Amino acid sequence: PSETGRVLSIQSHTVQGYVGNKSAVFPLQLLGYDVDPINSVQFSNHTGYPTFKGQVLNGQQLWDLIEGLEANDLLYYTHLLTVCDPVMGDEGKLYVPEDLVSVYREKVVPVASMLTPNQFEAELLTKLRIVSETDGREACNILHAAGPSKVVITGIDIGGNLLLIGSHQKDKEHSPEQFKIVIPRIPAYFTGTGDLMTALLLGWSNKYPDNLDKAAELAVSSLQALLRRTVNDYTSAGFDSQSSSLEIRLIQSQDDIRNPKLTFKAHKY
Ligand code: ATP
Ligand code: PLP
Ligand code: MG
Ligand code: NA
Ligand code: MG
Repeated sequence: PSETGRVLSIQSHTVQGYVGNKSAVFPLQLLGYDVDPINSVQFSNHTGYPTFKGQVLNGQQLWDLIEGLEANDLLYYTHLLTVCDPVMGDEGKLYVPEDLVSVYREKVVPVASMLTPNQFEAELLTKLRIVSETDGREACNILHAAGPSKVVITGIDIGGNLLLIGSHQKDKEHSPEQFKIVIPRIPAYFTGTGDLMTALLLGWSNKYPDNLDKAAELAVSSLQALLRRTVNDYTSAGFDSQSSSLEIRLIQSQDDIRNPKLTFKAHKY
């Protein structure tokens, strides 16, 4: 594995619970990265709860922080995390204003080196309806053509399984190397998993730059161990894990993040 790096992570912050930076910073630190978080919002809790309150960082406030770093020559990051995960929406609902979709499509995607959209985000970015493996692979091809050499669609809902499709276009002359990982769907609803998955994919794909399939196996293995722990902990505390949005057991899963047991296998196409 090659050297680790310095990550500037621009994502949501929640006071309580784990989404955005709260679910991305700790795992990247565990994998050996220096991580500097900018909190694009600060909310009391994630949007899976009945209500939330808090503040949104505006463009000028974000720019102030960047200028402060720049003025001291501190903008020497190896990775910018935010462009990786569009964080546009999920389950047919947009989190961001509709006019931002074209900004993502036209300005953000072209400068990203890796994209990790969920099924809904991949559909918005490609304008392709994704209902099969073939659609997923085609969506990756369309996204490669727009810029990023690495694309991971983190979960396509097919017959009770979540299908992860990864695609690495190593050069423009050859078609991309593609693979899938089949993930049995756990009957519970989690938040923060997309942001955690993206952080793990960044962490591992930087250590294995030519093996996106290996990076994805490691990321999926960590995440699934964490999700199983989350469900077990809620169940043994007497909660019905199917009835509410669960908070992931991030801190308790640190060994699964540092040293994942490879329990998921990528299948190359
Ligand atoms: P979120 O749903 O938290 O917004 P996302 O939509 O951005 O996340 P997903 O593809 O839904 O991204 O989830 C990221 C990863 O989380 C998937 O690759 C999958 O491994 C895992 N995951 C999420 N929910 C489940 C589940 N119910 N059962 C098994 N794995 C899950
Ligand atoms: N940021 C905030 C503040 C949220 O409330 C949510 C979801 O509830 C997300 C980000 C999305 O996180 P993820 O896609 O990892 O579930
Ligand atoms: Mg999802
Ligand atoms: Na995602
Ligand atoms: Mg998400």
